[in-house]
Amino acid sequence: MDIQEIQLRDLDVKRFIAEKTREISSLVGDGTAINALSGGVDSSTVTLLAHRALGSRLKTYFIDNGIMREAEPERIVALFRQLGVPVELVDAKAEFFTALKGVTDPEEKRQAITDAFYKEVFGRLVRESGTRYLLQGTNYTDVEETVAGIKRQHNILEQLGIDTQKEYGYRVIEPVIQLRKPAVREVARALGLPDEIWQRPPFPGPALAARIIGEVTPERVAIVRQATQIVEEELSDTRAFQYLAILHEDRVTGMRQGKRDFGLQIEVRCWESTDAQIGSPTRLSFDTLETLAERITTEVPGVVSVTYNVTRKPPSTIEAV
Ligand code: XMP
Repeated sequence: MDIQEIQLRDLDVKRFIAEKTREISSLVGDGTAINALSGGVDSSTVTLLAHRALGSRLKTYFIDNGIMREAEPERIVALFRQLGVPVELVDAKAEFFTALKGVTDPEEKRQAITDAFYKEVFGRLVRESGTRYLLQGTNYTDVEETVAGIKRQHNILEQLGIDTQKEYGYRVIEPVIQLRKPAVREVARALGLPDEIWQRPPFPGPALAARIIGEVTPERVAIVRQATQIVEEELSDTRAFQYLAILHEDRVTGMRQGKRDFGLQIEVRCWESTDAQIGSPTRLSFDTLETLAERITTEVPGVVSVTYNVTRKPPSTIEAV
């Protein structure tokens, strides 16, 4: 890999911010750039760096792909507007669900999301805006895992030999590609992003689609979205690295009102990790696990079974897909 990692202990945050701001300015020149904000630490950091570098020559979009968490698009757009960064919300739900229809293989799912995002949605936005640059928050771990062949992270393009200029008609700028998550957080904090953003647990690029085993349909997203909200409400106090709900494809026999109910299964994962490279399950109390099971089976329609995953990474990965 020819990208040089900057380790947290070697990071001079102020210098990094100054250098990256300069770099973005000189690459874009007097042109314009666009970027996609998801509200995660990486894309939020890139949004602020690029906003500093380009001001109104940066156009930031939040792509509502239909697979984000409850009320997430509106909340993030409002938060950045408060920070003085205008963000346009783009409704791309139909494009993503069409691309995901009938797809069950994990890598094909990622490819479908990548194509919908870069080719269709951003291809269109780039054509409409006449810009030549897309800024995005690829980090060092994303590249490493993709190049190692573990999972194709949705934002990896050039490192896989994809010429974005040829394929999509724009160049990609990746200001935090040399940093792992803890270092990106330090930059985010120094840029003045609120605690809620720089401390935010990671959330995958393919969003809730990374937590649905089998086909991603609007109905199945609604189920995992509701379970995710419960898991986040119940586990945010743990300060674990990440906590999530996964919807399984297999059904199991359960019972409701004295009758058989061949229902859905939700798996809960809660991870201790520092940079997502390795991880171990959080030792949640049995009371917490019981609360999760109780709430998910009563509040999420159709769910009759809740399990807690106690596997380490490796051999597991953090997300299910
Ligand atoms: P995995 O599941 O590979 O995740 O252990 C490592 C970290 O990266 C986050 N993340 C992604 N995971 N596809 C993924 O499977 C993606 O495109 C992606 N983007 C980010 C994940 O949430 C975990 O923190």
